[in-house]
Amino acid sequence: MRDEDKRLAAEAAVAEVRDGMLVGLGTGSTVAFAIAALIARGARIETVATSIDSAAKARAGGLVVRDFADVARVDLTIDGADEVDARLFAIKGAGGAMLREKIVAAASVRMVVIADGSKRVAAIGAAKLPVEVLPFARAFVADRLAALGAAVTVRDGVTDNGNIVLDARFGAIPDPAALARAIAAIPGALGHGLFLSQVDAAYIADDGVVTRLER
Ligand code: 5RP
Repeated sequence: MRDEDKRLAAEAAVAEVRDGMLVGLGTGSTVAFAIAALIARGARIETVATSIDSAAKARAGGLVVRDFADVARVDLTIDGADEVDARLFAIKGAGGAMLREKIVAAASVRMVVIADGSKRVAAIGAAKLPVEVLPFARAFVADRLAALGAAVTVRDGVTDNGNIVLDARFGAIPDPAALARAIAAIPGALGHGLFLSQVDAAYIADDGVVTRLER
């Protein structure tokens, strides 16, 4: 059922894609349905991908994937989320791609989130907040996050960028903008999963019913 909702949300977002667009592909299991829908539709588009995994999925289906290093502007990005609320604040990064996802979102004229209903929350903050960190700064950044009130764990492995991820659990985030500023100010913290201004719309599917939230 959850997979079916992911597919419905993804297909609703893919309906926004027009031929000729440069489309940003997010990362994760919900985005995989969007990539599949674009491939099935034979969309005449170019894409940029926020992860090695999404790039591989898109290329395997015959989509053109451009190197984002050559791209300054994306027409529409479709991405998943771990939590999204009615303000269109989101927490992303369970898949560890939030740094590239935030860069591509910032380059996008429009960014839409796709999710099943389990991701919809009254206020973001319960999910772990991933922070991509330069390995050199691991203990320092972990200490600063703990000082901000987080229980911090080091994730196994490295990101597509060769960095590590610290998962910071705050339990609740009463002032997301202040927290975003505080994390961004930690040297060695390269990016975090708070998306407060990037999301223009969300398609959320719950038991087969898709709701669109628009900023
Ligand atoms: C990866 C992400 C994903 O979009 C997010 O974790 C949702 O993934 P899924 O669709 O598999 O639940 O932010 O960095």
